[in-house]
Amino acid sequence: MGLLGFSLMLLSMLQIVASQQVTDPNEVEALNKIISHWNLGTKLNISGVDPCTQNATWAPDSANPQIACHCAGTTCHVTRLKVYALDISGEIPNELFNLKELQNLNLAQNVLSGPIPPEIGQLTNMQYLTVGINNLSGPVPPELGNLTKLLSLGISSNNFQGPLPAELGNLTSLQQLYIDSSGVSGPIPQQLSSLKSLMKLWASDNLFTGKIPEFLGTFTDFIDLRLEGTMLEGPIPTSLGALTKLDDLRIGDLSMEDSSLDFVENMTSLSILSLRNCRLAGLIPEKLSTFSNLKTLDVSFNSLSGNLPLNSAKVGLSMNVVGTSVNANSLLDGKASGMLQCLVGGTKCSNKVPATSFSIKCGGTVQTSASGIKFDDDTETLGAASIYSSSDHQWAVSNTGSYISNPNGPQYTTQTDSQIMETLESELYKSARISPSSLRYYGLGLMNGKYNVELHFAEIQMDDNSSHSWKGLGRRLFDVYIQGERVLQDFNIKNEAGGSKRALVRTFEANVTNTVMDIHFFWAGRGTCCIPYQSTYGPLVSAIHVSQASNGISSSKRDKKRVGRIVGVAVGCAAGLVIISSVFYLWWTKEKPTHMRVHTDAPRKV
Ligand SMILES: *[C@@H]1O[C@H](CO)[C@@H](O)[C@H](O)[C@H]1NC(C)=O
Ligand SMILES: *[C@@H]1O[C@H](CO)[C@@H](O)[C@H](O)[C@H]1NC(C)=O
Ligand SMILES: *[C@@H]1O[C@H](CO)[C@@H](O)[C@H](O)[C@H]1NC(C)=O
Ligand SMILES: *[C@@H]1O[C@H](CO)[C@@H](O)[C@H](O)[C@H]1NC(C)=O
Ligand SMILES: *[C@@H]1O[C@H](CO)[C@@H](O)[C@H](O)[C@H]1NC(C)=O
Ligand SMILES: *[C@@H]1O[C@H](CO)[C@@H](O)[C@H](O)[C@H]1NC(C)=O
Ligand SMILES: *[C@@H]1O[C@H](CO)[C@@H](O)[C@H](O)[C@H]1NC(C)=O
Ligand SMILES: *[C@@H]1O[C@H](CO)[C@@H](O)[C@H](O)[C@H]1NC(C)=O
Repeated sequence: MGLLGFSLMLLSMLQIVASQQVTDPNEVEALNKIISHWNLGTKLNISGVDPCTQNATWAPDSANPQIACHCAGTTCHVTRLKVYALDISGEIPNELFNLKELQNLNLAQNVLSGPIPPEIGQLTNMQYLTVGINNLSGPVPPELGNLTKLLSLGISSNNFQGPLPAELGNLTSLQQLYIDSSGVSGPIPQQLSSLKSLMKLWASDNLFTGKIPEFLGTFTDFIDLRLEGTMLEGPIPTSLGALTKLDDLRIGDLSMEDSSLDFVENMTSLSILSLRNCRLAGLIPEKLSTFSNLKTLDVSFNSLSGNLPLNSAKVGLSMNVVGTSVNANSLLDGKASGMLQCLVGGTKCSNKVPATSFSIKCGGTVQTSASGIKFDDDTETLGAASIYSSSDHQWAVSNTGSYISNPNGPQYTTQTDSQIMETLESELYKSARISPSSLRYYGLGLMNGKYNVELHFAEIQMDDNSSHSWKGLGRRLFDVYIQGERVLQDFNIKNEAGGSKRALVRTFEANVTNTVMDIHFFWAGRGTCCIPYQSTYGPLVSAIHVSQASNGISSSKRDKKRVGRIVGVAVGCAAGLVIISSVFYLWWTKEKPTHMRVHTDAPRKV
């Protein structure tokens, strides 16, 4: 071959190479380091292949892990990296920030720990970023405010500390912000008022302080707002009345000032309206009855009253009728009405000799413990607002609330096949009652006096947090009231027992003065919502054993003034299913019109 021929050949080789698109070598190196850092080699093997090769197995959206690229001219850049729900652990490696052209980063549902490094601020092309459900800690980096192209940011269900950085206010294109259960605390920065594009904000279960910001009412594209279980103070700003595109509004657990419900009057697109435990007072706006999309209305644990015109609405209504001006007896069948009467203390709950103990196998079948205690069957199917009394009328159970995001999900009991540790009575803990809102047990016809209340718990829905899986990162938090006094707040069975599927017994003293013992398990909006699956939250209890204390006070006088026992009752009536309870709870389905007077009641001492 002559020199000319050789030169031509060399030229054509160069042309071939030049016409091929190759990934930026810095990014290839970074990818290799990331893959090795997270031990992804077997799931994502790019060795010897250009990561941006067309039609690579890891390129399509359905791939996980996924690497997707954008190529221009001869150079390709990684624009998308997804490592989703693969239980990768360790920290976020700095090599990640060499993928300068990333637009979409999904590291959700893993067990990443450590901080989000401030270098995240270099990835200024980012549009979709989520690290939701991990074990990340440290501050939420202010550098996130540099990612001004962000459309969606998710840091939910982590262990961040400190306040939200004011710099997030620079994310003026942001449409979706998921920060629920992220660990952040303190005031919500005023700078967030610049997030004018926001359509979805999930911010529940954070230790926010101060008032609910007025500026939320200027985000007129809002369709989904969740703000439950924070330390925010009422009132609900009337500015929120401008959010007429809202489809789903959930606010809960407000302190301080009362709010009126009138602000919802123009929110005609609502399909879910949940305002539990918000110190709502005043009348229920009549306009609610014209909201044709409304499927779920929960205004439980407030002090609303008024006439509810249920035009063309369905009745599935629960309300407190006890200790109020409401006369609901006409709605009740004889049995339920009798039960209500006895719970208010108006009549005796049973004609038997007063009992001095009762024991319940919550959510399970009858069982006798090694120590000879017979725990009664409590497997009756409960609805979204119902009361059930044991066949011997020794106790009753009342449940209210529905799993809004998972209506066909858990039906108020849960079971496991696993052995339960730290107990000789494993069977006692293999089933439990659960509730998305309020679960209340009443001991009936008790001799007045001093009692020991033994509550048995074991976390059987959430995995252990030593499982090295995101499924172990869930936090269940709830409160317990006995005879109206809060005895446990933000109670976390898993932490207290030292892991899941471990038994835990808590014992309290309480006095019975009016033949009734009231044990109330209450969700105050706290804890993770969805680990390991949708609607894993709210109270859980395995068994209850109540017995008179030996040095019981012998009080025979009845406390006639006690009012406000609160129950859930489901009864049939001409209009359909009417549910009477501590809550006013309503499902709009198409049924016959009816009118009824309702009053809801706040059960919590403030
Ligand atoms: C990756 O693929 C190469 C060949 O393409 C192979 O030699 C290597 O063993 C693979 N690595 C892993 C971790 O599977
Ligand atoms: C990738 O797939 C497309 C469609 O299946 C095909 O037209 C194209 O030739 C493929 N490219 C390579 C490099 O295999
Ligand atoms: C990001 O923002 C911070 C201030 O929020 C700034 O100091 C920094 O220089 C910015 N740039 C990068 C690349 O992080
Ligand atoms: C980002 O936000 C911070 C704090 O609100 C502000 O001081 C800064 O000027 C903003 N940066 C840009 C580029 O807008
Ligand atoms: C609802 O809309 C009407 C008519 O625009 C307005 O007068 C009223 O103030 C609005 N109500 C609320 C609570 O924003
Ligand atoms: C979460 O991170 C902390 C350190 O911040 C660590 O102590 C803990 O073991 C981690 N938990 C899991 C489940 O990885
Ligand atoms: C894991 O459980 C321990 C107690 O068993 C608790 O202190 C810790 O906070 C838990 N960690 C996480 C990440 O939930
Ligand atoms: C029960 O009553 C006794 C006697 O009146 C009182 O000393 C005690 O504090 C009461 N216990 C509770 C838990 O209220």
